[in-house]
Parts: sequence; C-alpha cells; structure tokens
Amino acid sequence: MPREWDAKTYDALPLPHQQWGKRTLGRLNLRGDETVLDAGCGTGRDTAALLDLVPDGRVIGVDGSTRMLDQLRVKLADRLDRLEVIHGDLTKPLGLAGPVDAVSSVATFHWITDHPALFANVARNLRPGGQFVAECGGEGNVARINAAVEEVLGATGEREQVWYFAGVEETTERLRAAGFTDIEVDLLPDPARLEPGEQLWSYLATVVLGSHLDRLPEEDHEDFVRSVAAKLPEPVVDYVRLNITARRA
Ligand SMILES: C[S@@+](CC[C@H](N)C(=O)[O-])C[C@H]1O[C@@H](n2cnc3c(N)ncnc32)[C@H](O)[C@@H]1O
Repeated sequence: MPREWDAKTYDALPLPHQQWGKRTLGRLNLRGDETVLDAGCGTGRDTAALLDLVPDGRVIGVDGSTRMLDQLRVKLADRLDRLEVIHGDLTKPLGLAGPVDAVSSVATFHWITDHPALFANVARNLRPGGQFVAECGGEGNVARINAAVEEVLGATGEREQVWYFAGVEETTERLRAAGFTDIEVDLLPDPARLEPGEQLWSYLATVVLGSHLDRLPEEDHEDFVRSVAAKLPEPVVDYVRLNITARRA
C-alpha cells in the first residue's frame, strides 16, 4: 500500500493543488449523470467538486492513505449517498462494480513509479469512450528541491526512487499502449512561492519530502527539512506539471 499522509496539516496548507484541481476538472465535459472516479482523491477537495459536476451521478474516490480518506469522510459526511470511498492502490484491481464514465486525477501519479501498470488499470476501469484527465509532477519537477536533498543526504545518504516525473513523449506512448486515444499531454512550469520559515518547513515536510522522512528516524525530521529548506535559493517549490487529457478507445 502507498505511504500514509498527515491529512490535517495537508488541508491547512496553502496548496497550489487547488488551482491544479480546477484546471484539471475544467477539461472534463460532463452531462451531470455520470460516474466519475477521483484517482488519488486525498482529503476530497476535487471529489467534492466532482460531486457538484454530476448532481445526478456518482463519484468514486480511491486513495492509498487511510488518514487522507478518514479526513475526506469527515469533510464529505453529508454527501456519502452519492460517493463511494475505496482504500486501494491505483496500480492494483480496485474492485469496482463496473467501468466508470470518466477518471480524474490531481497531484498523484508522480507518487507511482509504474506508469504502464497505472494507465492499464485506469483503462480497465474506464468505459470505451470515457474521459481521462489528470495532472501530476512531470519531467523537471522540483529539480531544485531534489538538488537540495542530494546535498543534504551527501555521499552516505540512502537513495531510492521516491517519485517518477514522466515526460510528454513517454507518457503519450504509454497512454496509447494502454488503449487511449485523443491524447494530449503537456508540461507546464508552475512554481509555488511560500512564506520562508514555518510555512515552508511545514509544506516541505507534509507535501514534498514525506517519502524521504519515512526513511529517517523521527528525531531527525526537523533537522532534515530545515537543512533542505536552507539550501533552496528562494522559498519556492519549482513545480513542473504534466497535464494529461485522453479518451478510452
Ligand atoms: C499530493 S496528494 C493529492 C491528493 C488530492 N488529489 C489533492 O489534489 O489534494 C497525493 C495522493 O496520492 C495518493 N497516492 C499515492 N500513491 C497512490 C497509489 N499507488 N494508489 C492510491 N493512491 C495513491 C496519496 O495517498 C495521496 O493522498
């Protein structure tokens, strides 16, 4: 199962994800009675927006973090009649009753390193003709932060691939191989500026550096986050977003 998240701190942060969500959901073309899957729904910000987009339909939220889903269930407690919540891994069978009409995903796919398995699973759970819109970190994403992490870890630090920032061509090819058509993929630099100090540290710890922190003892977390922050030229997360729009053939 994917790693756990600090859902409450996540929701308290100034997240550029809100804009990414609007941008991504804005590419959906819905009548209002469809079933839509929110892949990596987290605490449910876009799940709620999807429920608004399909007043006569249903939304299925899938996420690998129980803490994110607990927070979602609290926030959307009065909307669970049209919402199914699944704790699952997006690269594994999801156990849906049937294929959905559309799949949407925000800020999730770069946490998954096996994109062929991911896209095959999305295709498997999407009806022919169904819409697929997604965004995630893409090629070049958080390069400055990665450089700072490298510096802090030094020669002795543990190395393991924690993210996968895919490019346009490989993504287009994988989507085609997984059975998608009408494929549009692009990369968009979208840096996020934070307040230096507490806000930057909290953001880095909660949103960006979690997988590194998982590997460090608790007592080293604060030091690691502050050391990475200190190596950044400015309090900016140098995001580059990979945007995907496609249709299941
Ligand atoms: C940055 S959060 C984004 C959440 C939400 N979409 C948003 O924009 O706020 C990434 C989410 O992806 C989920 N995730 C990562 N890998 C996953 C996987 N293999 N299967 C399901 N969920 C996964 C995490 O649990 C987390 O909730």
